[in-house]
Amino acid sequence: MADDGENPEWRHRVDPSAGGLIPGVGPATSEGDLEPLVSLRSDRAAERAEILLEALWHREPDTVDHLRRTAAVVEAVARKLGWPDPKVRRTRFAALLHDIGKIAISRDLMRKPGALTELEQEAMRQHVEFGDQILKAFAFPPSMRRIVREHHERVDGSGYPKGLRGDEICDGARLLTIVDIADAMLSLRPYKEAMSLDDVRAALWAGRGTLLDRDLVAPVLEEMGMGGPPKVQ
Ligand SMILES: [Fe+2]
Repeated sequence: MADDGENPEWRHRVDPSAGGLIPGVGPATSEGDLEPLVSLRSDRAAERAEILLEALWHREPDTVDHLRRTAAVVEAVARKLGWPDPKVRRTRFAALLHDIGKIAISRDLMRKPGALTELEQEAMRQHVEFGDQILKAFAFPPSMRRIVREHHERVDGSGYPKGLRGDEICDGARLLTIVDIADAMLSLRPYKEAMSLDDVRAALWAGRGTLLDRDLVAPVLEEMGMGGPPKVQ
C-alpha cells in the first residue's frame, strides 16, 4: 500500500471537502450534502451504530454498557406493547445511541464527582444536540433522531432542550426516558451509589403522570423485574 498521503481512500477519510468520517457519508454542512438515509433494517445501520459505540467506548465504557442495557429493555417493552416492527426498530436504535453526544463532552466533566454547577449542567445538556448532529451526519433517519432529541424531555414540561409536555414528546422518547432513568438509578457511578430495586420502583412510580408517562412506567418495571406498585408509597 502507498503511504497514507497517497492512498485515495485515506484522503477521502481525512479531507473534509471530500467526505465525512466514513466513505459514502458526506459532511453535515447541509441537507443536500448528505447521502440517502440509512435504513434501520440494514446491516449498514447496525455497522454505523457499532462504529459510534466503539468510539464512545474508548472514552466512556460505562456509558456504552448503559446504552446497550437500555436498548435491550426498550426493545423488549416495545415488543410487549405490540408496537409495529419499524417503530420498535427506531426506538431500539435511538436507545442504543441516545447518549452518543457525550463523546463531545469533556472527560473531566463526565467524570466529575458530586453536583455540577449550573454552567456545567448546561454544558452536559448539550450532549442531546451533539448526538443529534452526529446521527444526522451518519444518515440516521429523522424519526429515530427525534427520540434521541427528546429523551430528556419530561411529561410535565420540566425537561430539556425544549420543555415539551405530554404528547408533544413522542412515545418512543417517553419510553426511553423511563428505562434510561431506571438503569441510571440502578447503576453505580463515580459520583453516586446504586439505588435498591425498591427505591427505584418507588421513585419511578412516584413520577407517573408528572415527570414520566403514566402508562409506560408499569411495563418498564415489569420488564426490569420490579413489577407491581411499590410496597411503601
Ligand atoms: Fe442523555
